[in-house]
Amino acid sequence: MFDKEISALSIEEAKAELEYLAKELAKSDSAYYQDDAPYLTDAQYDKLKHRNFDIEARFPELIRPDSPSKKVGAAAKSGFGKITHRFPMLSLGDVFSLEEVEDFILGVKRFLNTAEGIAFMSEPKIDGLSFSARYENRRFVSGATRGDGTTGEDITANLKTIKQLPLTLPDDAPDILEVRGEVYMAKEDFFALNERYAAENKKTFANPRNAAAGSLRQLDPKITAERNLSIFAYTWGEVSARKWQSQAGFFDCLKAWGFPTNPHNTLCQNIKDIEQSFAHLMEIRSSLPYDIDGVVYKVNSIELQERLGFLTRTPRWAIAHKFPAEQAFTKINNIRIQVGRTGALTPVADVEPINVGGVIVSHATLHNEDEIKRKDIRIGDTVIIQRAGDVIPQIVGVVLEKRPAGAQEFIFPDKCPVCFSHAIREEDEAVRRCTGGLSCPAQAKERLKHFVSKDAFDIAGLGDKIIEDFYLEGILKNPADIFTIEHRNGGDDLFSSAQGLHLERREGWGKKSVDNLFKAINAKRTISLPRFIYALGIRQVGSATALLIAKNYGSFSSFMQDMINKETAKIVSIDGIGAAMATDMVEFFQEPHNISIIEQLLKEIKVEDFIDTSRSDSVFSDKTLVFTGTLTQMTRAEAKAKALDLGAKVSGSVSKNTDYVIMGADAGSKAKVAQELGIKILSETEFLNLL
Ligand code: IVH
Repeated sequence: MFDKEISALSIEEAKAELEYLAKELAKSDSAYYQDDAPYLTDAQYDKLKHRNFDIEARFPELIRPDSPSKKVGAAAKSGFGKITHRFPMLSLGDVFSLEEVEDFILGVKRFLNTAEGIAFMSEPKIDGLSFSARYENRRFVSGATRGDGTTGEDITANLKTIKQLPLTLPDDAPDILEVRGEVYMAKEDFFALNERYAAENKKTFANPRNAAAGSLRQLDPKITAERNLSIFAYTWGEVSARKWQSQAGFFDCLKAWGFPTNPHNTLCQNIKDIEQSFAHLMEIRSSLPYDIDGVVYKVNSIELQERLGFLTRTPRWAIAHKFPAEQAFTKINNIRIQVGRTGALTPVADVEPINVGGVIVSHATLHNEDEIKRKDIRIGDTVIIQRAGDVIPQIVGVVLEKRPAGAQEFIFPDKCPVCFSHAIREEDEAVRRCTGGLSCPAQAKERLKHFVSKDAFDIAGLGDKIIEDFYLEGILKNPADIFTIEHRNGGDDLFSSAQGLHLERREGWGKKSVDNLFKAINAKRTISLPRFIYALGIRQVGSATALLIAKNYGSFSSFMQDMINKETAKIVSIDGIGAAMATDMVEFFQEPHNISIIEQLLKEIKVEDFIDTSRSDSVFSDKTLVFTGTLTQMTRAEAKAKALDLGAKVSGSVSKNTDYVIMGADAGSKAKVAQELGIKILSETEFLNLL
């Protein structure tokens, strides 16, 4: 009935449809909230809601007093709804010293091939959670958390409760604008909240960041509203017409449009200014009303930012200069061994709980056996412990003067403490590994946890505790079992049979929680290629590497075939993947057990081929390029980054798989090889024209 393009709607039609949507969504809300009998799927519900938003964006004068967009409390059913960011929300590279900042600036200059001074904006790095707020026709329409950078949680209703966030913008703001920044809780509000919670015997928060996160991620926005959250805006996502040419100019716009910006943002002309700004922020840090954990430097000119572009997850034009780690003294009570997903035995120290920069720390990693020896750490020692950002706390060193007479040296085991298999240390390897493979319960469990983790299948319903229990009871032995669990559960007729898992009969569970779990699992039966590759848990293959593999292979089957055939030429030609990684990948696919799990999995799920839609229409998409000789109009790094951005692969050597050789001045043997193989050679200018 109501499926006309929004741009084609007449005002009467829009009015009628908004009336219909208001009624339909209210009915659905009440069925869901009051009667506990939802009749719309999440997707149907979201579709109606989006349609409502979109019509209102075009006809703001028709917004009804009972509009569904004004209603808070209509949270998506299984937790929050998802929002896919139209532009990914990236993170920042970290550095810890001024030398590294200088290296960063030199790198920027080298990339741009310039000796001129470059201005940077220096901004306090707010220790909160990032958000993205979308405005259409100058009205706030939706808000999201960063999530995995690609997809975040829909926190529209919660953001609306933050008084500092403007809900409408002045006429000179662009038609489409996504403003991004940080949600934080001021120290004062944090202490007040904790005091109140302590008085009410409720669990308190460890630090303002956790309090802000816990408050923003409340399904009931009324709770968010009570918690006094604040924001600072500092960057943008999608924008229909960018009116600013620099980060400084952007801040001017933000201020004019009513967004809070940090008063300590400073434009720096050179490294001296940067150094001063860092020292100043370090000095005032503890007296600021909110937590900051470092300083962010951004190339001020947007033109230069655009030339610099991005690495996999971070921009080349910005960096975070983190404050030095916070330290404290404590005592080592015990040292124990943890067995990881790849069998690595990691020693962990249990320490006397201690407050390190606002967080209570009770254990610290000791990395490996050499590290314990090198630092001569013994049980009973007093040590200096430190934490930097989200990093697992580390032990800096022992206070020898305080060593008690009976301090015990730790003897590193040569057997796995979980499955008692031999734990061996390969030559040149710092870690000792359990040889039990998947017969080792610790490895099997960790692999399951990795499989469902945030950057992999992201199945929130399968928390660590459930995995542990299900593994012990034999319900989940390997990742493929996750997708057969519903089938194995059996019907819900109490008298039907003794067969089946009947999870709904478990203590503390019920039909609803079991249904939710199945729903969460079934929602992940289609998965993107990079997530799937990462989820397999191949040694050394993190999500950035998985993305590189996905981009270069496009489909899982072609990657798997190469690995099974021990064909590594293609994989090692990928920039960023080395021979050692390739060996680990090949080894993974030589293990029959792994192949069997993959085969079982592929019967249950669909792995999407990787199509880089933004680039598939470029001349260079999927083409392999080799650069040779000196380029004169841009640096090799810049040319390479541009080609990669357009979906090309860049290789270091010419082979029959090469599509183009880009020849700069004084090209050597590569150009000759290309000629012999009949490969298309482009001059630098031809290349630029094609770009
Ligand atoms: S800019 C592409 N500016 O730091 C760059 N981030 O490690 C996007 N953050 O996820 C980020 N203060 O949550 C930027 N002034 C600031 C920031 C800031 C805090 C956080 C943000 C981001 C993380 C990156």
